[in-house]
Formats: sequence, structure tokens, C-alpha cells
Amino acid sequence: MLVQNNLHFDELDGGHTGQEHQIRVLVNMDKKRCRVTTVGPDIEQMYNTYYDEFKLWELDKEDPHSFITGMRDRCIWNEQRWEHFHHPLHYLTCDPGDIWMINANWVSHQIVFGAKLQVFDADVHKEQMLNPEMVLANRIKNL
Ligand SMILES: [Fe+2]
Repeated sequence: MLVQNNLHFDELDGGHTGQEHQIRVLVNMDKKRCRVTTVGPDIEQMYNTYYDEFKLWELDKEDPHSFITGMRDRCIWNEQRWEHFHHPLHYLTCDPGDIWMINANWVSHQIVFGAKLQVFDADVHKEQMLNPEMVLANRIKNL
């Protein structure tokens, strides 16, 4: 049973390049208990807020993998221990059977309580997007 984890951005899975969005679809499979999660600031909000304080210009915006990891390590999993109760958070309570979606690479999130979850991933490729310029790699480059 997973009860809790730290605020984080999901890192890109192995073969992904940032020329797609990984959309996560989650289902609370617990038949009795709610699942409680939080969502916090997204990459853009943290980048603009902490650019100077954490020298975010040092991160390689050409490499989405290391950029997302660097943003997490500097802005959340840092020496100040900001993975709990620092950033403004929205708390979401999902009933048994609820389904929700998140762009987990872009939006910080945290499990507060949860026991049984099914996760589905879908890639939305750049050419499938209404506005291809908004693909993850470009969003990072344009920060
Ligand atoms: Fe996650």
C-alpha cells in the first residue's frame, strides 16, 4: 500500500524525447477508500519564480530529461526540503472508481494517500497536437 510520496515531476520514460506529451490517466481502484493527491506549481511557474535563486539558467533546456530532473532537484528535492508543505498545493480527493488525467512531466504532484491505482499512459505526438509548438521540448526551450 502506497500511503504517501514526495512532491515531484515525473521524469520522461526512457525512449521519450520531449517531442510528445505523456498524458497519464489514473483510476482509483480502491473499492472503499478515497485517493488523496496534490497538484502544485508547474515547470513554468517554478522556473519563473526560482530562476535567480537556484541558478536555473545552468540547466540544459535542450535536454528535457535532465532539465525536468534538475528542476525537481533544485526547486523541490532541495536542501531546504521543499518536498513537503512549502509550495502552494491543491488537494484533490478522488472517490473509488474516479478517473483523472495529468501531464505529470509538467505539473508537480504528490500522493497523500492511496492504495490501489491503475495508471494508463498515452503519448500525444507533436504532429497530433492542435498547436505543435506547445510540445514539451518547445515549452522548455521557450521558458
Ligand atoms: Fe508522479
